[in-house]
Amino acid sequence: MSNAKTSNDVLLEVKDLKVYFPVHAGVFQRKVADVKAVDGVSFTIKRGETLGLVGESGCGKTTVGRAVINVLRHVSPGVHVSGEVNYYEKDGTVTNLLALSTKNMRAYRSKIQMIFQDPFSSLNARLSVKQIIAEPLEIHQPNLSAAEVNDQVVWLLEKVGLQPEYAARFPHEFSGGQRQRIGIARALSTKPDLIICDEPVSALDVSVQAQVINLMEKLREEFGMSYLFVAHDLSVVYHISQRIAVMYLGNVVEIGTSDQVYFNSTHPYTRALLSAVPVPDPERKDKQRIVLQGDIPTPMNKPSGCGFRTRCPIAKPSCADAPPLLDTKSDGRLVACPYVQVGEPMGV
Ligand SMILES: Nc1ncnc2c1ncn2[C@@H]1O[C@H](COP(=O)(O)OP(=O)(O)OP(=O)(O)O)[C@@H](O)[C@H]1O
Ligand code: SF4
Ligand SMILES: [Mg+2]
Repeated sequence: MSNAKTSNDVLLEVKDLKVYFPVHAGVFQRKVADVKAVDGVSFTIKRGETLGLVGESGCGKTTVGRAVINVLRHVSPGVHVSGEVNYYEKDGTVTNLLALSTKNMRAYRSKIQMIFQDPFSSLNARLSVKQIIAEPLEIHQPNLSAAEVNDQVVWLLEKVGLQPEYAARFPHEFSGGQRQRIGIARALSTKPDLIICDEPVSALDVSVQAQVINLMEKLREEFGMSYLFVAHDLSVVYHISQRIAVMYLGNVVEIGTSDQVYFNSTHPYTRALLSAVPVPDPERKDKQRIVLQGDIPTPMNKPSGCGFRTRCPIAKPSCADAPPLLDTKSDGRLVACPYVQVGEPMGV
C-alpha cells in the first residue's frame, strides 16, 4: 500500500490488463475468434504525473483508457476484461475498479474524467456551455444551489481561458480549440484526480495544439491532478509527459522517463516510431532512419511469441517462442525485448 504523503505516490496501477472483444460469425453467430485489443498491459500513474501512451492506430490505447474508467461492458457487451485497475485513495485505501458494479463505480466517475479527441462531436450540441459544464457537477454534487453551480461554471470558464459570457452560447458557435477548452472545463468540474486525455489535440490545427497543451500543463500544475495522455505523435507526448509508455499490438513494449524514451529509445519498435518523426532533434541519439517492413498483424491474428517479430529488423527464430517480458534495463526503464540494450545500436 502506498504512502500518500510523498510526491511519488501511486494514484493508479494497471496490472496485467487484458481486453478481448469476441468476434462472431455464421448463422448461429458463434464466437470464432477474439480481438486481443489489450493483451497483458501493466503500468502505474503517480499523483500529479502525466503518463504518455503512444502507438500506432489500433494498438489498444483507447481501449486501455476505457478500461480505466470501467465503461467497456457498456461499450461492448460480451467483452472479456481481466486484470486489475487499482485506484489508490489518499488515505491508502486501494480499490480495483474492474471489480465494481456500475452503481459502486459512480463515486469514481467524479475522480476520473475524460477528454475526447473530437471536440466537434463530444459536446452535446443541444446544450449550452453552462449546461455542458454543469452536468457533472449536478450529478456528483446534487446539493449545490443554482447560484453555486453558476459561480463554478464562471470560475471554470476563466480557468480554461474563456469569457464568462460564453456560458449562454452553444457548441456550434466555437472553434475547435475553444470547444476543447469547454471539454477541459467540463472534465475539471468535479476536481478529478486523473483525466484520461484521448488524443485531445489531434483534431486541432497545429497552431492551436500548443495552446491547448500549454493550458493542460498549467492546469495540471495548479490542480495537482494526473493525466493519462494518449496520442499517436511522440513529439506531442514528449512535451507534456513525465513518463512515456509505448504500445504495440495490445502490449506495452517500452516504458521509461520521457527523456529516456524520446532521446534514447531502445525497443526496436520505439526506435522505428521515433525515426519517423519528421524533424530530427539534434540531441536524439538514434539518427538512422528505420523503415519497417513485413506484415502488419491484427490483434485478431497475433503472431506467436513477440508481437513485433513480423516487422522487427533484428528478429530471431527464438522470438517466435514466447512473448518477451518487460525487462528492467541498465537505466531503470522497462523494455520488452531481451536483444537490445540502452545506448547500443540494434543487432550487436
Ligand atoms: N467495441 C469493439 N469491438 C470490437 N473490436 C474493438 C472494439 N473497440 C476496439 N476494437 C478493436 O481493438 C483494437 C484496439 O482499438 P483501440 O481503439 O483501442 O486502438 P487505438 O490505439 O485507440 O487506435 P486509434 O489510434 O486509431 O484511436 C482494434 O483492433 C479495434 O478494432
Ligand atoms: S523480441 Fe525479437 S522480434 Fe521482438 S523486438 Fe526483440 S528482437 Fe524484435
Ligand atoms: Mg484511439
